[in-house]
Amino acid sequence: MDEKPRIGMVGAGKVGSVLARLSVQVGYTVSAVSSLHRASAEKLAAETGASVVSSAVETAALADLILLTVPDDAIAQVAGQVAQVSLAGKAVVHTAGALDTGVLQAAAKAGAMVGSWHPAQAFAAANRAGLTGVAFAVETGDARLREWLLNLTAAFGGRPLMIPPGGKVVYHAALVFVSNYTVGLYAVAGRLLTGLGLDDASVAAALNPLLTGTVTNIQQYGIPDALTGPLTRGDAGTVAAHLQALGDCDERLQALYKLLAQVTLPVAMAKEPDRDFEPLGAILDERNDHADQRA
Ligand SMILES: NC(=O)c1ccc[n+]([C@@H]2O[C@H](COP(=O)([O-])OP(=O)(O)OC[C@H]3O[C@@H](n4cnc5c(N)ncnc54)[C@H](OP(=O)(O)O)[C@@H]3O)[C@@H](O)[C@H]2O)c1
Repeated sequence: MDEKPRIGMVGAGKVGSVLARLSVQVGYTVSAVSSLHRASAEKLAAETGASVVSSAVETAALADLILLTVPDDAIAQVAGQVAQVSLAGKAVVHTAGALDTGVLQAAAKAGAMVGSWHPAQAFAAANRAGLTGVAFAVETGDARLREWLLNLTAAFGGRPLMIPPGGKVVYHAALVFVSNYTVGLYAVAGRLLTGLGLDDASVAAALNPLLTGTVTNIQQYGIPDALTGPLTRGDAGTVAAHLQALGDCDERLQALYKLLAQVTLPVAMAKEPDRDFEPLGAILDERNDHADQRA
């Protein structure tokens, strides 16, 4: 039977707002919302038909599935607050990427089923319309809660990901590479182009279609075939020129470029197995770094 628990939200920020709105859209009841500031809770409650309550423990009293969508550092403390009442038959779940269920220990002691349910998506604002196709890392030792979370994931059109015990930190680090550090690398590229005198519109014109095209290539061709550029061509001279120019403007960027090239070179080698990569390998050889430092 597709059992639909009443959902209580603690934390009416970006993730909490999107999950609560979607839950209502797919036929769940969001029964109560609380947040640090009442105004946030009131806004989300108005959008979802939920009751506004003033504490996590009141949220827990009105819900079966209590979602803690608060900052990571607040999760253990809020779990302690909801654990002031018996939580038998209820579930307490957080949505943090790098934390496992250990952070909900207090709620587990109060009888709750505990779990984590992490949408692998970047919520830059609270207005994301849907989560179709998004992976949700589901982690719980409780069969009933697993079913609740799998049903919700399916109702959102998401895809469940089972992370092995102890794997959440590495899982989250992987997502940070592809999401947050893409933004960081975009910012680096933007700074370099701004340094050449390009205005913001020109920077966006140069980078945005390139970024979109790269993502499309990854989706269409996968790794290694999506890789283009001097590494795949074995253009050692171009890579040497990049390193020289970056060293002239910012040594940290030179080091970053070199490290990225070192970890990307095996992808180029996989794509072009018959190409001679020795000249590139020599430029990127870590042992040369130490030789440089000794010189
Ligand atoms: N943002 C993402 O891309 C993303 C993606 C996946 C998972 N997550 C995870 O989702 C969780 C929430 O992240 P978020 O980005 O939605 O954060 P957020 O936008 O900053 O929202 C956090 C909310 O928690 C409320 N809050 C803070 N401390 C609280 C407390 N002690 N008691 C009750 N409510 C409290 C805040 O209240 P007020 O608004 O009332 O001040 C805010 O509404 C985190 O665990 C995060 O790791 C985030």
